[in-house]
Amino acid sequence: MSNGSLSAKISSAPSDPIFGIVEAFRADPRPEKINLAAGVYMEEDGVTPILASVREAERRLLANATTKLYKPIGGDPALVKLLRALIFREPGAPFGALPAIANEGRIEVLHTPGGTGAVRLAVELVKRLRPQAEIWVSDPTWPNHPQIADAVGVPHRSHPWTTADVRSLDLDAVLQSIAAAKPGDAFIFHGACHNPTGIDPTAAEWRAIADAVAARGILPILDFAYQGLGDGLVEDAASLRAFLATGCEVLVAASASKNFALYDERVGALAIVAEDKEAAAAILTHAKVAIRAAWSNPPGHGGEIVAEILADDALRGQWEGEVTAMRERINGNRRAFVAALASEGAGDYSHLLTGRGMFSLLGLDDAQLKRLRDEQAIYLVARGRINFAGLSAVKIPIVAKAVAALLR
Ligand SMILES: Cc1ncc(COP(=O)(O)O)c(C=O)c1O
Repeated sequence: MSNGSLSAKISSAPSDPIFGIVEAFRADPRPEKINLAAGVYMEEDGVTPILASVREAERRLLANATTKLYKPIGGDPALVKLLRALIFREPGAPFGALPAIANEGRIEVLHTPGGTGAVRLAVELVKRLRPQAEIWVSDPTWPNHPQIADAVGVPHRSHPWTTADVRSLDLDAVLQSIAAAKPGDAFIFHGACHNPTGIDPTAAEWRAIADAVAARGILPILDFAYQGLGDGLVEDAASLRAFLATGCEVLVAASASKNFALYDERVGALAIVAEDKEAAAAILTHAKVAIRAAWSNPPGHGGEIVAEILADDALRGQWEGEVTAMRERINGNRRAFVAALASEGAGDYSHLLTGRGMFSLLGLDDAQLKRLRDEQAIYLVARGRINFAGLSAVKIPIVAKAVAALLR
């Protein structure tokens, strides 16, 4: 083996903190195993189904599609327009009505491979356009945030998100971190359904955060991977509206993976809200250069499904009902699990009821997580991140009993 070989002196890279656990779950031969680790929606039977609206869209595409030609670098114009309508829809407004900033030409949207592609593109833009910037991420956050910053070569720092007991937002600590950041730095905020804590600011708290961000000249990057799974498709954009109200620039990384259950189709979008129309057009050119050197053009099929659904009032209505059903099942499981923990004498976990989205932290350490895995075949992520969608009427008492035994 020569020194120039790719294989010279190579050691293995660590497994992904979340996908690594999911792989271990798959390899576990015990039939009673319970997967609360994967960040995906599941039905009562543990299956992640294809939505009926998606099936119908696919049926139409199969009948009507005529080509597999490359998409434009930034995605199909029809799709990005529809995604813009979805992300920026205002309370009480019909789908497609746009806020004033859109009519001013301040918004550009690009189709990316998933929310990951959108976060990656946002970080690439920070690197290109604000080369001195550091990126701040919450502690804890989705492990891919710091990983992406490392991959792009942007230094990152973390700031507190919750109080030490991980039961509520530490707004003062967040505001202090914003005040401590350099003007020009970027903060990645979770637009809704904070992963892993489930702890979202209220609308008033978002306004306080947005005002501080705008006053300090910070670029907010909103990772909006769970739109619709918190309080509703429009309600969940309260975070975005707080930033827009300040007039500041914003980058929004959206994803269709969760709310359309299109995990493997890789549909996401980066929305760029610039200072004015000229800046938006200029930033778009940089985004396209970055894309060309990365994935070149977005994958077609998933974006076509999303466009088919969003463009048809009836199909969009059906899909919105499916999003509501997913959200309500998750929240039902939250309530049932907290009640089951209480009846097992595990103490007061009622703060989990105010959590939003699929996840909350149970606050378990590595040794406790190992015991759950080894003794009960129950899989969670670091610090006891639980995916409530992975629970069911049958699994709730089993998991509550096992967790309560660790907590008592
Ligand atoms: C916080 C957060 N951001 C972004 C994503 C990206 O999702 P995807 O790339 O699958 O659309 C996820 C997925 O788990 C996530 O949890």
